[in-house]
Amino acid sequence: MHKSEKIWLSLSFGMILLFMIATGYQAFALGMAPPGGMETIDPQKVDETAPFDNPGITQIGENEFEVVMVLELYRFTPADLEIPAGATVHFKLTSKDVIHGFQIVGTNANGMVMPGYVLTMTQTFTEPGEYLVLCNEFCGAGHQFMATTIIVK
Ligand code: CUA
Repeated sequence: MHKSEKIWLSLSFGMILLFMIATGYQAFALGMAPPGGMETIDPQKVDETAPFDNPGITQIGENEFEVVMVLELYRFTPADLEIPAGATVHFKLTSKDVIHGFQIVGTNANGMVMPGYVLTMTQTFTEPGEYLVLCNEFCGAGHQFMATTIIVK
């Protein structure tokens, strides 16, 4: 084997090893994980499992809200939310059937909502306006119609 081949091979293996150590350190020593998704739910029993047996929006503080939302083919429940400007919203999401997306256009909020798991995310809406919420995971024939809005007044 040529000498430069050996150098590049060991460099590549060294880098792979380094990345694996870095990822392992973050996951196991620092406990880093994707937000939410640690909580599980029986996707067959979403309608009977709290808090998803009663989806909706609840005020939990001064301009702070909790939204419990169920995603299914091809809708968001509750839909067409209205909140005051400056509100901080804690979302709790799950899916009853397949993988759906939850993207609030114009914000950083973007999640994959998987059946069997509860996704939590928090978003503060400082700017008033109408925010489009889209499913961005292909979920079936009606995927392109799966959208709702959040109106910030
Ligand atoms: Cu739900 Cu695409």
